[in-house]
Amino acid sequence: MTMKVLVTGTEGFIGARLGPWLISRGHEVTGLDAGFYRDGTLYLDPIGLSQTPRTIYKDLRTVTSADFEGYDAVVHLAELSNDPLGQNKPEITFKINHEGSVRIAKAARQAGVRRMIYASSCSVYGVGSGDFLDEKSPVNPQTAYAQCKTMVERDLKPMASRDFCVVFLRNATAYGASPRMRFDIVLNDLCALAWTRKKIAMTSDGSPWRPIVHVEDICEAVSCALEAPAEAVNGEVFNVGSTGENYRVREIADIVGAAFPGCEVTMGPAGGDNRSYRVSFEKIATRLPEYRARWTAKMGAEELRRLFERIEMSPATYEFRAFTRLKQIKYLQQTRQVDADLYWSKR
Ligand SMILES: NC(=O)c1ccc[n+]([C@@H]2O[C@H](COP(=O)([O-])OP(=O)(O)OC[C@H]3O[C@@H](n4cnc5c(N)ncnc54)[C@H](O)[C@@H]3O)[C@@H](O)[C@H]2O)c1
Repeated sequence: MTMKVLVTGTEGFIGARLGPWLISRGHEVTGLDAGFYRDGTLYLDPIGLSQTPRTIYKDLRTVTSADFEGYDAVVHLAELSNDPLGQNKPEITFKINHEGSVRIAKAARQAGVRRMIYASSCSVYGVGSGDFLDEKSPVNPQTAYAQCKTMVERDLKPMASRDFCVVFLRNATAYGASPRMRFDIVLNDLCALAWTRKKIAMTSDGSPWRPIVHVEDICEAVSCALEAPAEAVNGEVFNVGSTGENYRVREIADIVGAAFPGCEVTMGPAGGDNRSYRVSFEKIATRLPEYRARWTAKMGAEELRRLFERIEMSPATYEFRAFTRLKQIKYLQQTRQVDADLYWSKR
């Protein structure tokens, strides 16, 4: 079953892996991205490179139904994609992440696109009691980023119909190798610290729970959601990850420490980050039986150690702005490459 798929955010951490992933499954893929992180490529993947989709450079706030003509499906990833970046200027986060995502859905539906996969996030659960949360648990968003995710889900759900299948994938915090690397996500950051400093000095006791998921397991979930019969997924929310991959942050630090020989791990005092949640991934495992999460945190840490060895990653590379979302967006603003609303400046 070959589909013509428009993927937004193809220059992002997940999108840079998802484009080639979907092409290798036989789909015809086009990308759409504002290009905010185009300065940053950590490595070239000779296999994925030949399968990198053509990308249209466009801000999602300006798309119209004409941009979606002729596509069977849209996978929508492009947003200001984490809590610190979302908090930077919350009013712009709402414009891009909430209003922009609803605009995409309406334009795609008007153009006759039959399926839309929305990349939501387990961060909608916010602060949990420690019990496992599932798709029926109340949401409790703590940040503008997470709030927008709940608002997009709320507004897109009633759009699901016989002609327009909408699927919500609430991804756990991602990790893993991507040419468009991000070091502002927990496992990747800890691996980079372990490699460049041989020391992980936690500033807190690392007690909060976090479900984490490898970027390839997210790609697998997207392809399953695209290819499943519409009646199995239409209007449905799926947490993406696996139940065994809920960790306390300090456990992730210990796993990373063990994967990088000679790395010392120390903990800090209690307190700080109050976002803590454990998530159940039983629904995706049972309702999308083709889906199987293959990665563990240990495998992911070892993968990154091998990657850093291969590219001889330096401390300067780790700290390079384009691998940390907030740094890159602030740099684009300070150098006036983008204006206050994050549109590229006309010069
Ligand atoms: N990485 C994670 O841990 C994680 C976890 C859960 C959910 N998600 C969601 O998955 C999606 C992709 O995440 P990611 O980690 O690849 O993010 P990313 O920040 O690496 O990539 C996002 C891409 O979107 C583009 N973009 C941002 N604003 C845009 C705009 N106004 N117009 C057009 N393009 C724009 C950026 O240029 C970037 O290439 C996001 O929606 C994110 O919220 C990510």
